[in-house]
Amino acid sequence: MPFAARIDDAITSAIREGQAAPSPSKLASALHYTVTPGGARIRPIILMSVAAACGDDKPELANAAAAALELIHCASLVHDDLPCFDDAATRRGKPAVHLAFGEPLAVLTGDSLIIMAFEVLAKAAVIDPARAVELIRILSKRTGMPNGICAGQGWESEENIDLSAYHRAKTGALFIAATQMGAVAAGQDAEQWEELGARIGEAFQVADDLRDALYDEDALGKPVGQDDLHGRPNAVTELGVDGAIQRMTDILGGAISSIPRCPGEALLAKMVRAQAEVLTPMKWRAQQSNRVPGE
Ligand code: IPE
Ligand code: IPE
Ligand code: MG
Ligand code: MG
Repeated sequence: MPFAARIDDAITSAIREGQAAPSPSKLASALHYTVTPGGARIRPIILMSVAAACGDDKPELANAAAAALELIHCASLVHDDLPCFDDAATRRGKPAVHLAFGEPLAVLTGDSLIIMAFEVLAKAAVIDPARAVELIRILSKRTGMPNGICAGQGWESEENIDLSAYHRAKTGALFIAATQMGAVAAGQDAEQWEELGARIGEAFQVADDLRDALYDEDALGKPVGQDDLHGRPNAVTELGVDGAIQRMTDILGGAISSIPRCPGEALLAKMVRAQAEVLTPMKWRAQQSNRVPGE
Protein backbone atom coordinates (compact mmCIF):
# COMPACT_ATOMS: atom_id res chain seq x y z
CA MET A 1 0.00 0.00 0.00
CA PRO A 2 1.34 3.52 -0.79
CA PHE A 3 2.58 5.57 2.19
CA ALA A 4 -0.24 8.12 1.88
CA ALA A 5 -2.92 5.42 2.15
CA ARG A 6 -1.22 3.73 5.12
CA ILE A 7 -0.95 7.07 6.92
CA ASP A 8 -4.54 7.99 6.17
CA ASP A 9 -5.92 4.63 7.33
CA ALA A 10 -3.98 4.77 10.58
CA ILE A 11 -5.11 8.34 11.34
CA THR A 12 -8.72 7.63 10.37
CA SER A 13 -8.95 4.59 12.61
CA ALA A 14 -7.46 6.47 15.60
CA ILE A 15 -9.95 9.31 15.14
CA ARG A 16 -12.82 6.85 14.78
CA GLU A 17 -11.93 5.25 18.10
CA GLY A 18 -11.82 8.70 19.69
CA GLN A 19 -15.30 9.44 18.38
CA ALA A 20 -16.91 6.27 19.72
CA ALA A 21 -19.85 6.43 22.14
CA PRO A 22 -20.23 8.02 24.64
CA SER A 23 -18.23 10.87 23.08
CA PRO A 24 -19.58 14.45 23.13
CA SER A 25 -20.61 15.08 19.54
CA LYS A 26 -19.10 18.54 18.93
CA LEU A 27 -15.66 17.55 20.19
CA ALA A 28 -15.92 14.34 18.16
CA SER A 29 -16.64 16.42 15.02
CA ALA A 30 -13.81 18.82 15.81
CA LEU A 31 -11.32 15.93 15.91
CA HIS A 32 -12.34 14.87 12.42
CA TYR A 33 -12.40 18.46 11.15
CA THR A 34 -8.83 18.99 12.34
CA VAL A 35 -7.17 16.02 10.66
CA THR A 36 -9.32 15.72 7.50
CA PRO A 37 -8.49 16.15 4.69
CA GLY A 38 -5.10 16.93 6.27
CA GLY A 39 -2.16 18.92 5.01
CA ALA A 40 0.91 17.76 3.13
CA ARG A 41 1.64 15.10 5.76
CA ILE A 42 5.33 15.60 5.15
CA ARG A 43 6.38 14.34 8.61
CA PRO A 44 4.70 10.92 8.43
CA ILE A 45 5.88 10.55 4.80
CA ILE A 46 9.47 11.09 5.94
CA LEU A 47 8.88 8.63 8.80
CA MET A 48 7.58 5.99 6.38
CA SER A 49 10.45 6.63 3.95
CA VAL A 50 13.03 6.06 6.69
CA ALA A 51 11.22 2.94 7.93
CA ALA A 52 11.18 1.60 4.35
CA ALA A 53 14.87 2.39 3.92
CA CYS A 54 15.55 0.39 7.11
CA GLY A 55 13.55 -2.65 5.94
CA ASP A 56 10.09 -1.86 7.45
CA ASP A 57 9.90 -5.30 9.07
CA LYS A 58 6.91 -4.36 11.27
CA PRO A 59 4.77 -2.14 9.04
CA GLU A 60 1.90 -1.93 11.57
CA LEU A 61 4.31 -0.30 13.99
CA ALA A 62 5.42 2.21 11.35
CA ASN A 63 1.76 2.97 10.62
CA ALA A 64 1.08 3.65 14.32
CA ALA A 65 4.21 5.82 14.59
CA ALA A 66 3.22 7.83 11.51
CA ALA A 67 -0.33 8.41 12.79
CA ALA A 68 0.93 9.43 16.26
CA LEU A 69 3.38 11.92 14.78
CA GLU A 70 0.79 13.54 12.51
CA LEU A 71 -1.75 13.74 15.35
CA ILE A 72 0.77 15.70 17.44
CA HIS A 73 1.47 17.99 14.49
CA CYS A 74 -2.25 18.65 13.91
CA ALA A 75 -2.77 19.31 17.63
CA SER A 76 0.08 21.81 17.60
CA LEU A 77 -1.54 23.72 14.74
CA VAL A 78 -4.92 23.94 16.51
CA HIS A 79 -3.25 25.42 19.59
CA ASP A 80 -0.96 27.62 17.47
CA ASP A 81 -3.94 29.26 15.75
CA LEU A 82 -5.70 30.17 19.02
CA PRO A 83 -6.11 33.88 19.83
CA CYS A 84 -3.59 33.57 22.69
CA PHE A 85 -0.92 32.37 20.22
CA ASP A 86 -1.03 33.48 16.57
CA ASP A 87 -4.73 34.37 16.43
CA ALA A 88 -5.03 32.92 12.91
CA ALA A 89 -8.43 32.75 11.26
CA THR A 90 -7.73 30.07 8.65
CA ARG A 91 -5.87 26.80 8.41
CA ARG A 92 -5.65 24.54 5.36
CA GLY A 93 -8.19 26.71 3.57
CA LYS A 94 -10.85 26.35 6.27
CA PRO A 95 -11.80 28.39 9.32
CA ALA A 96 -9.42 27.63 12.20
CA VAL A 97 -10.83 25.16 14.73
CA HIS A 98 -11.55 27.84 17.36
CA LEU A 99 -13.63 29.78 14.83
CA ALA A 100 -15.48 26.70 13.62
CA PHE A 101 -16.13 25.20 17.08
CA GLY A 102 -15.26 27.85 19.68
CA GLU A 103 -12.18 28.25 21.87
CA PRO A 104 -12.97 25.71 24.60
CA LEU A 105 -13.43 22.96 22.01
CA ALA A 106 -10.27 24.01 20.16
CA VAL A 107 -8.23 23.70 23.37
CA LEU A 108 -9.81 20.30 24.01
CA THR A 109 -9.27 19.18 20.41
CA GLY A 110 -5.55 19.88 20.69
CA ASP A 111 -5.41 18.15 24.09
CA SER A 112 -7.36 15.11 22.85
CA LEU A 113 -5.15 14.68 19.78
CA ILE A 114 -1.99 14.83 21.87
CA ILE A 115 -3.31 12.15 24.25
CA MET A 116 -4.56 10.10 21.30
CA ALA A 117 -1.08 10.08 19.76
CA PHE A 118 0.42 8.46 22.84
CA GLU A 119 -2.51 6.05 23.14
CA VAL A 120 -1.90 4.90 19.56
CA LEU A 121 1.74 4.14 20.43
CA ALA A 122 0.82 2.43 23.71
CA LYS A 123 -1.61 0.17 21.86
CA ALA A 124 1.10 -0.65 19.30
CA ALA A 125 3.16 -2.15 22.13
CA VAL A 126 1.50 -5.51 21.39
CA ILE A 127 3.48 -5.53 18.13
CA ASP A 128 6.85 -4.88 19.77
CA PRO A 129 6.96 -3.56 23.36
CA ALA A 130 10.58 -2.38 23.35
CA ARG A 131 10.26 -0.46 20.10
CA ALA A 132 6.93 1.07 21.21
CA VAL A 133 8.46 2.41 24.44
CA GLU A 134 11.31 3.94 22.44
CA LEU A 135 8.78 5.54 20.05
CA ILE A 136 6.93 7.03 23.04
CA ARG A 137 10.21 8.36 24.45
CA ILE A 138 11.17 10.05 21.18
CA LEU A 139 7.74 11.57 20.55
CA SER A 140 7.52 12.91 24.14
CA LYS A 141 10.98 14.43 23.89
CA ARG A 142 10.12 16.20 20.64
CA THR A 143 6.72 17.40 21.87
CA GLY A 144 7.46 18.79 25.35
CA MET A 145 10.21 20.63 27.22
CA PRO A 146 13.06 21.37 26.76
CA ASN A 147 13.51 20.01 23.23
CA GLY A 148 10.02 19.85 21.78
CA ILE A 149 7.25 21.96 20.31
CA CYS A 150 6.24 23.32 23.74
CA ALA A 151 9.74 24.74 24.11
CA GLY A 152 9.52 26.16 20.59
CA GLN A 153 6.26 27.95 21.28
CA GLY A 154 7.61 28.98 24.70
CA TRP A 155 10.45 30.94 23.09
CA GLU A 156 7.86 33.34 21.67
CA SER A 157 7.17 34.57 25.21
CA GLU A 158 10.83 35.45 25.83
CA GLU A 159 12.23 38.93 25.37
CA ASN A 160 15.37 37.62 23.71
CA ILE A 161 14.84 34.73 21.34
CA ASP A 162 17.63 32.23 20.72
CA LEU A 163 16.81 31.84 17.02
CA SER A 164 18.40 28.47 16.43
CA ALA A 165 16.95 26.94 19.64
CA TYR A 166 13.56 28.42 18.69
CA HIS A 167 13.52 26.98 15.16
CA ARG A 168 14.99 23.66 16.19
CA ALA A 169 12.30 23.18 18.86
CA LYS A 170 9.35 24.68 17.01
CA THR A 171 9.86 23.04 13.62
CA GLY A 172 12.94 20.83 13.71
CA ALA A 173 11.73 18.72 16.63
CA LEU A 174 8.99 16.88 14.73
CA PHE A 175 11.30 16.29 11.76
CA ILE A 176 13.85 14.72 14.11
CA ALA A 177 10.98 12.65 15.52
CA ALA A 178 10.07 11.64 11.94
CA THR A 179 13.47 10.23 11.00
CA GLN A 180 14.13 8.68 14.42
CA MET A 181 10.67 7.10 14.77
CA GLY A 182 10.90 5.68 11.24
CA ALA A 183 14.22 4.04 12.11
CA VAL A 184 13.02 2.75 15.49
CA ALA A 185 9.79 1.34 14.03
CA ALA A 186 12.01 -0.74 11.75
CA GLY A 187 14.27 -1.88 14.59
CA GLN A 188 17.18 0.55 14.13
CA ASP A 189 18.94 2.74 16.66
CA ALA A 190 17.54 6.30 16.84
CA GLU A 191 20.70 8.26 17.50
CA GLN A 192 22.32 8.22 14.09
CA TRP A 193 19.08 9.50 12.49
CA GLU A 194 18.92 12.79 14.40
CA GLU A 195 21.09 14.81 12.03
CA LEU A 196 19.03 13.98 8.93
CA GLY A 197 15.79 15.04 10.67
CA ALA A 198 17.36 18.22 12.02
CA ARG A 199 18.63 19.22 8.58
CA ILE A 200 15.33 18.53 6.82
CA GLY A 201 13.58 20.50 9.59
CA GLU A 202 15.92 23.45 9.13
CA ALA A 203 15.33 23.46 5.37
CA PHE A 204 11.58 23.22 5.96
CA GLN A 205 11.67 26.26 8.25
CA VAL A 206 13.45 28.32 5.56
CA ALA A 207 10.89 27.09 3.00
CA ASP A 208 8.06 28.09 5.33
CA ASP A 209 9.60 31.56 5.75
CA LEU A 210 9.73 31.85 1.94
CA ARG A 211 6.10 30.82 1.58
CA ASP A 212 5.08 33.28 4.32
CA ALA A 213 6.83 36.10 2.45
CA LEU A 214 5.97 35.17 -1.17
CA TYR A 215 2.47 33.74 -1.22
CA ASP A 216 -1.04 34.95 -0.50
CA GLU A 217 -3.63 33.45 1.82
CA ASP A 218 -5.56 31.79 -1.02
CA ALA A 219 -2.49 29.87 -2.15
CA LEU A 220 -1.46 28.75 1.33
CA GLY A 221 -4.83 28.27 3.01
CA LYS A 222 -3.56 30.13 6.09
CA PRO A 223 -2.71 33.77 6.89
CA VAL A 224 0.53 35.11 5.37
CA GLY A 225 2.92 37.87 6.46
CA GLN A 226 2.73 36.42 9.98
CA ASP A 227 6.43 36.71 10.68
CA ASP A 228 6.40 40.45 9.98
CA LEU A 229 3.15 40.89 11.89
CA HIS A 230 4.46 39.19 15.04
CA GLY A 231 7.97 40.62 14.62
CA ARG A 232 9.52 37.16 14.35
CA PRO A 233 12.91 36.45 12.87
CA ASN A 234 12.69 35.17 9.30
CA ALA A 235 15.19 33.78 6.76
CA VAL A 236 13.85 36.02 3.96
CA THR A 237 14.32 39.24 5.94
CA GLU A 238 17.78 38.05 6.87
CA LEU A 239 18.99 36.72 3.50
CA GLY A 240 16.56 37.92 0.80
CA VAL A 241 14.61 35.50 -1.42
CA ASP A 242 17.56 34.27 -3.49
CA GLY A 243 19.72 33.94 -0.40
CA ALA A 244 17.04 31.97 1.44
CA ILE A 245 16.55 29.60 -1.51
CA GLN A 246 20.32 29.07 -1.69
CA ARG A 247 20.40 28.39 2.03
CA MET A 248 17.61 25.83 1.74
CA THR A 249 19.39 24.07 -1.13
CA ASP A 250 22.66 23.97 0.85
CA ILE A 251 20.94 22.53 3.91
CA LEU A 252 19.23 19.82 1.86
CA GLY A 253 22.56 18.95 0.22
CA GLY A 254 23.95 18.46 3.73
CA ALA A 255 20.89 16.37 4.60
CA ILE A 256 21.63 13.94 1.78
CA SER A 257 25.21 13.47 2.88
CA SER A 258 24.05 12.82 6.46
CA ILE A 259 21.86 9.81 5.54
CA PRO A 260 23.16 6.88 7.62
CA ARG A 261 24.17 3.63 5.93
CA CYS A 262 21.07 1.52 5.40
CA PRO A 263 19.66 -0.79 2.72
CA GLY A 264 17.49 1.95 1.18
CA GLU A 265 20.07 4.76 1.27
CA ALA A 266 19.74 5.63 -2.43
CA LEU A 267 15.94 5.73 -2.32
CA LEU A 268 16.03 7.95 0.74
CA ALA A 269 18.35 10.41 -1.02
CA LYS A 270 15.80 10.47 -3.84
CA MET A 271 13.05 11.27 -1.35
CA VAL A 272 15.03 14.20 0.10
CA ARG A 273 15.66 15.54 -3.45
CA ALA A 274 11.93 15.23 -4.20
CA GLN A 275 11.14 17.16 -1.01
CA ALA A 276 13.52 19.90 -2.15
CA GLU A 277 11.40 20.24 -5.31
CA VAL A 278 8.21 20.43 -3.27
CA LEU A 279 9.69 22.97 -0.86
CA THR A 280 11.03 25.37 -3.50
CA PRO A 281 8.27 27.92 -4.07
CA MET A 282 6.69 27.56 -7.53
CA LYS A 283 6.66 31.33 -7.92
CA TRP A 284 10.43 31.47 -7.58
CA ARG A 285 10.92 28.53 -9.96
CA ALA A 286 8.77 30.26 -12.59
CA GLN A 287 10.79 33.46 -12.20
CA GLN A 288 14.01 31.50 -12.60
CA SER A 289 12.90 29.85 -15.84
CA ASN A 290 11.94 33.29 -17.28
CA ARG A 291 15.27 34.84 -16.32
CA VAL A 292 17.62 35.77 -19.17
CA PRO A 293 20.93 33.91 -18.64
CA GLY A 294 23.55 36.19 -17.08
CA GLU A 295 20.91 38.68 -15.90
C1 IPE B 1 3.07 24.10 9.23
O1 IPE B 1 3.44 22.81 8.89
C2 IPE B 1 3.68 24.48 10.54
C3 IPE B 1 5.13 24.67 10.55
C4 IPE B 1 5.90 23.99 11.32
C5 IPE B 1 5.77 25.67 9.74
P1 IPE B 1 3.01 22.15 7.49
O2 IPE B 1 3.34 23.08 6.38
O3 IPE B 1 3.60 20.79 7.44
O4 IPE B 1 1.43 22.06 7.63
P2 IPE B 1 0.39 21.08 6.95
O5 IPE B 1 0.25 19.91 7.86
O6 IPE B 1 0.90 20.68 5.59
O7 IPE B 1 -0.88 21.89 6.90
C1 IPE C 1 3.68 26.59 13.91
O1 IPE C 1 4.56 27.55 13.56
C2 IPE C 1 4.53 25.49 14.50
C3 IPE C 1 3.93 24.83 15.62
C4 IPE C 1 2.68 24.82 15.93
C5 IPE C 1 4.84 24.11 16.46
P1 IPE C 1 4.04 28.84 12.77
O2 IPE C 1 3.10 29.62 13.59
O3 IPE C 1 5.25 29.54 12.28
O4 IPE C 1 3.35 28.13 11.53
P2 IPE C 1 2.03 28.52 10.75
O5 IPE C 1 2.43 29.63 9.83
O6 IPE C 1 0.99 28.94 11.73
O7 IPE C 1 1.67 27.28 9.99
MG1 MG D 1 3.13 30.14 15.63
MG1 MG E 1 1.05 30.13 13.31
